[in-house]
Amino acid sequence: MPQELRAVHWTGSGLALIDQTRLPHRTETVDVRDVDTLVDAIRRLVVRGAPAIGAAGGYGVALALLQGEREGWTDGEVLRAISRIRGARPTAVNLMVSVDRVAARLPHGLTAVLAEAAAIQREDVEANRSMGAYGADWLIERVAVDRPLRVLTHCNTGALATAGWGTALGVIRELHARGRLEIVYADETRPLLQGSRLTAWELTQEGIPHYVQADGAAAGTILRGAVDAAIVGADRIAANGDTANKVGTVGVALACSYARIPFLVAAPTTTVDLSTATGDDIHIELRDQTEVLEWGGLRTAPAGSPGHNPAFDVTPGRLVTGLVTERGVLEVSTGELPGQRLR
Ligand code: MRU
Repeated sequence: MPQELRAVHWTGSGLALIDQTRLPHRTETVDVRDVDTLVDAIRRLVVRGAPAIGAAGGYGVALALLQGEREGWTDGEVLRAISRIRGARPTAVNLMVSVDRVAARLPHGLTAVLAEAAAIQREDVEANRSMGAYGADWLIERVAVDRPLRVLTHCNTGALATAGWGTALGVIRELHARGRLEIVYADETRPLLQGSRLTAWELTQEGIPHYVQADGAAAGTILRGAVDAAIVGADRIAANGDTANKVGTVGVALACSYARIPFLVAAPTTTVDLSTATGDDIHIELRDQTEVLEWGGLRTAPAGSPGHNPAFDVTPGRLVTGLVTERGVLEVSTGELPGQRLR
């Protein structure tokens, strides 16, 4: 992905979001100038990935302020609009953290609000770069083989999902840059195909060798010894290391545990929610049934079959071999818990 392409970009008067529902076939941008459009964009996954929706939410506070000025809103109406942005999706804690951080600057006016939103974006790119280096160092040392690594990933955690570079995909990009990557198995990521549409698109842009595989292939690929390590992102990490990420992640973690290969989670500390004790307390978004009952707008399940569509699942901390943040790697499964190490 060219460096200048940003999933979330403040134009000076609004937000330009790459429309991730259209990729890989069309690269279109959605121009966002009001709160309703932003909330809709977050809900429909025009912008998605925990750090990217955090970045968009931060700028959303500025959008609410500007729209309030245009339309003569009261302070209460501005705050209600901000709280709608904050609640647009429930699982990724980055959205709430960013909105709250930027909203705290409201008394200082628009310039201060925009500066805070820009700082969140900048810090996220820096965190991703550090994570990339820590994660690559750890994997190379831990896997300790005399050949490039074969890794598996689930969902999309690249530049599209963040303010730039990527979390798990940032580690993968770093391995590639060091000449230490053989192949990436990219799970397609049902039902919305973030893996086959977005991760494969980013890997193609970077010239990184990869296969797209069905989610159901992941366990078999791992158990037949084709993978050295799995690396995924996160939407919220509880104090005990339990990790919410895209539905299907826990199956990957179980297969890694059975095969005794590392299961790595890469996420900035902004994704670690120390006020959430365990994964049981993480709100898992339930999305519209039609996403699993239809394909390309056509019904595939029998009429009358209801759908169950959790967008995320929770991987128990004891299955997380390593948690890579911008501060280094915690070996969660051996007791290096975020609640003790990241306070
Ligand atoms: O529903 P999505 O596409 O927003 O889900 C995204 C994921 O689950 C990612 O793995 C996670 O947000 C980390 S992105 C760096």
